[in-house]
Amino acid sequence: MGKRIVFTGGSGKAGRHVVPYLLDQGHEVLNLDLVPLDHPGVNTLITDLTDSGEAFNALSMHFGFQGLASGKGPAPVDAVVHFAAVPRILMRPDNTTFAANTVSTYNVIEAAMKLGIRKVIIASSETTYGVCFAEGDKDYRSFPLTENYDVDPMDSYGLSKVVNEKTARAFAMRFGADIYALRIGNVISPEDYARFPAFLADPPSRKRNAWSYIDARDLGQIVHLGVEKDGLGFQVFNAVNDTITAYEPTRPFLEKWAPGTPITGEIGEFEAPISNRKIREVLGFSEEHNWRNYVSR
Ligand SMILES: NC(=O)c1ccc[n+]([C@@H]2O[C@H](COP(=O)([O-])OP(=O)(O)OC[C@H]3O[C@@H](n4cnc5c(N)ncnc54)[C@H](O)[C@@H]3O)[C@@H](O)[C@H]2O)c1
Repeated sequence: MGKRIVFTGGSGKAGRHVVPYLLDQGHEVLNLDLVPLDHPGVNTLITDLTDSGEAFNALSMHFGFQGLASGKGPAPVDAVVHFAAVPRILMRPDNTTFAANTVSTYNVIEAAMKLGIRKVIIASSETTYGVCFAEGDKDYRSFPLTENYDVDPMDSYGLSKVVNEKTARAFAMRFGADIYALRIGNVISPEDYARFPAFLADPPSRKRNAWSYIDARDLGQIVHLGVEKDGLGFQVFNAVNDTITAYEPTRPFLEKWAPGTPITGEIGEFEAPISNRKIREVLGFSEEHNWRNYVSR
C-alpha cells in the first residue's frame, strides 16, 4: 500500500527524479523546499528547515486541500525523506554550509521522532569518504569503499554529512526508530550522460567520485526500498550504481589510476569502487539505468 511521505528538498536535482519515482510506486508525497517543484500531484510547502518551528509544523500539516475532507485533521505521516541541503562546498561560506546541513537535519529528525514518525531516510554523501572535496590529491585508504570505512572528510560539507549520520544514529537509538543514511554517489540525471565520454577519456577527473555514480531514477528505487523496509534501526547504505565508470575492469583500472590505494576486499570484474553490495543484499536493489545503456563507444 502507498505510504504518506514528507520529502524535503524535492525541488532539487535528485528530488526532481526521486519524487516522481515514489509517486509511481503509489506513495503520496508532500515536498518541503525553499522553492516549488513543478510536478502534478505534489504540493510544495515553502519551508526553511533550519528553523525548528517550521520543521515541526511542516511535518504535521495536510499534504494539500484534499486533507480537509476527513474533518479529522492531518493524517499520520509514514516516512520522512530528507534531501534538503546545501549540496556542496563553494556555494555558501563554509560555516553556513556546515550549520545549515547539520541544523536542518537535526530539526527534521527530531521533529519526526517527537511527532511519532518512525522511518526517516537522510541524504548522506560519497564526500564522507574524504577525497571528493579534499585539498590536493588525497588517496582513499582502501578499496572497495564500504559502509564500515573510517570516514575522514576535511571539508565543511563532508563533515556536515558525517555529523548528520551521528545525529541519525543518536535519534534512532533514543526512539527505537529506523533511520537510514544513504551515502549518495555523484547524482547523474538523464541529460548528464552526455558528459560521460569526457569522464571516460580522462580517468583522473573522476577520482574524487571514486569512479562511481548514481542514476537519479535508480536513487528513486533505493529510497522506495528504504521506505518499504522495516526494523533495521540505524543504517548507512552506499547509494550508487553497480559498475565502475570505465571500460577497463575494476582491478587493473584501479591499479593504474589509484596506485596508492590497496584493494583489500572482494571486488567484482566491473564493480564500482564504492560498493553497493549492501543495498543489493539488504534492500534488494536492482539497477535499471547502467551508464553503458546511454553512452555509445
Ligand atoms: N548531487 C549530488 O551529486 C549529490 C551527491 C551526494 C549527496 N547529495 C545530497 O543529496 C541531496 C540532494 O542533492 P541535490 O543535488 O538534489 O541538491 P539540490 O541543491 O539540487 O537540491 C536541494 C534542495 O534543498 C533545498 N533546500 C536547501 N536548503 C533548504 C532549507 N533550509 N530548507 C528547505 N529546503 C532547502 C533547495 O532549495 C533545493 O531544492 C542533498 O542532501 C545533497 O547533499 C547530492
